[in-house]
Amino acid sequence: MAEKWVLMVTAQTPTNIAVIKYWGKRDENLILPINDSISVTLDPQHLCTTTSVAVSPTFTHDRMWLNGKEISLSGGRYQNCLRELRARASDVEDEEKGIKITKKDWEKLHLHIASYNNFPTAAGLASSAAGFACLVFSLAKLMNVKEDHSKLSAIARQGSGSACRSLYGGFVKWIMGKEENGSDSIAVQLADEKHWDDLVIIIAVVSSRQKETSSTSGMRETVETSMLIEHRAKEVVPRRIIQMEKAIKDLDFPSFARLTCSDSNQFHAVCLDTSPPIFYMNDTSHRIISCVEKWNRFEGTPQVAYTFDAGPNAVLIARNRKAAALLLQRLLFYFPPQSDTDLNSYVIGDKSILQDAG
Ligand code: ADP
Ligand code: DP6
Ligand code: CO
Repeated sequence: MAEKWVLMVTAQTPTNIAVIKYWGKRDENLILPINDSISVTLDPQHLCTTTSVAVSPTFTHDRMWLNGKEISLSGGRYQNCLRELRARASDVEDEEKGIKITKKDWEKLHLHIASYNNFPTAAGLASSAAGFACLVFSLAKLMNVKEDHSKLSAIARQGSGSACRSLYGGFVKWIMGKEENGSDSIAVQLADEKHWDDLVIIIAVVSSRQKETSSTSGMRETVETSMLIEHRAKEVVPRRIIQMEKAIKDLDFPSFARLTCSDSNQFHAVCLDTSPPIFYMNDTSHRIISCVEKWNRFEGTPQVAYTFDAGPNAVLIARNRKAAALLLQRLLFYFPPQSDTDLNSYVIGDKSILQDAG
């Protein structure tokens, strides 16, 4: 091997927003959930992670920078992903640069990883999903890992549960699985990105501040202390998963909206039922819910669904472009950006085209 080379790969991965939420693990190390979940993957042009990974014989240890700041890779999640990928690395040859890396070399070579999220990190817009999906995808490319999306998705799951759904576009289901080794806890695509392209997604960034309770520790505390979580995971979610799959297949917006809003509200209810209680939404989030609920009731049939992940930011899904335009008008009227208490910015898009609303 020539000694001064650097080999680099860059990849981009979108985030995904759950409409039936994952909250709670049965295995912390393998990241196995206590219920199935369903999400929509957003267009990669917006709300995405870009990760560059490099290898060189001059690197002395594995290092990672997130949004320009060095972070530690010592956590189990990063180590689990790196170990799984190194075990599957294959020979890489770049004749032009005179580089030849054998399968065995990957055990000793070190990596440098630089990742950027073009949206708030750790603020409830699923940065861990886009982040770990992108980490695994870019490293798999660099290391010539010959595995399909399903296997890469299972590796990304060990970085962050929600990341397993970001390897697919469109509507995606993460099946919780039964096996102790996690072999059947996998993501599957329910419908591709062309399905239901009337839907328009508007993200209202209420706060880009980092949340106080990470999703990982929040869900651990919920599982340890909430009495409602078992009812949710065992009784409510299994029924909702069946209904949601049908609503997506039939393009049934009223059912889709009812299920999405109820599931978001129940997720935040189990957060409140946690001891000490976890508050992810704030007053502005609550006002957005009221605004949408009132409007949907006034119209007689839902025009918009809302969902909030583990943070105060609203993900609003309008049934079509007309409803999206009306929604944006309302939001701008009630929540003018940059006023004291209100929203910072809006991002509009759908599953195929996204534009910055400024
Ligand atoms: P979010 O709601 O944004 O997903 P989480 O609490 O689930 O918040 O996860 C945030 C954590 O995910 C960050 O502290 C970091 O450890 C990890 N993360 C975020 N972005 C990336 C990225 N691009 N690459 C790797 N890890 C990331
Ligand atoms: C509310 O996947 O971020 O966004 O697996 O511990 O990394 P870890 O948690 P994470 O949890 C996501 C929770 C959620 C709902 C969802 O995405 O399904
Ligand atoms: Co997350």
